[in-house]
Amino acid sequence: MIDLAEFGIHEGISEVIVTTLSVNGVPNAAPVGLHKKDGRLFFRLFNSKTLDNVLSRPVACANIVDDPVLFVRSALSDMDSGDFEFVDGFPVLNEALAWIRFRCECKKGEKISVVELSPVSCAVTSLTVRPVNRGFNAVIEALVDATRYVVFGGQKYLDRIGYYDKLVGKCGGGREMEAMRLLYELIGE
Ligand SMILES: Cc1cc2nc3c(=O)[nH]c(=O)nc-3n(C[C@H](O)[C@H](O)[C@H](O)COP(=O)(O)O)c2cc1C
Repeated sequence: MIDLAEFGIHEGISEVIVTTLSVNGVPNAAPVGLHKKDGRLFFRLFNSKTLDNVLSRPVACANIVDDPVLFVRSALSDMDSGDFEFVDGFPVLNEALAWIRFRCECKKGEKISVVELSPVSCAVTSLTVRPVNRGFNAVIEALVDATRYVVFGGQKYLDRIGYYDKLVGKCGGGREMEAMRLLYELIGE
């Protein structure tokens, strides 16, 4: 029996990087919210490579990651094959602090699909301690807006990203600064 509390997964939404495998065997990674509510575990997925992969091969791995650059790369670009390692034939991120693999049951919707999750295996590879850092949190908020900006466009997203960028400048470290530099590069701003 896998105890998700040991992975810091509690009620609410935990931001993880989900790895999946395409029908052609190509690994993919993208940030996704892992929902835990009333005993249920699920993803809510917009149309994306992650959804295509889960529909064709109903397995997904939630990688727990604390590197802001990895979040930016996986959200806004294709990862390199060297970013992945395969465990029992399924991709996980080399840099994951821990991962949980799930069997998936998809309820396909027109815009949003709900993917119910059952844990099947897991591993912890690092016990890094990380205090709350507002710069890191600001990168994540900016990145959510960046993923909307690349789909919808609009000044309001750029304004919000600018606000979070200032917070990163105040509270972040080198990795958060690098993440914001890359974010702006990948959205073409
Ligand atoms: C912190 C964060 C959380 C996200 N959560 C979700 C989510 O729960 N569901 C979703 O469909 N997209 C979510 N996204 C957006 C996807 O990561 C983004 O659309 C990504 O480009 C999809 O990549 P893919 O086509 O390789 O699957 C999130 C993005 C960020 C930065």
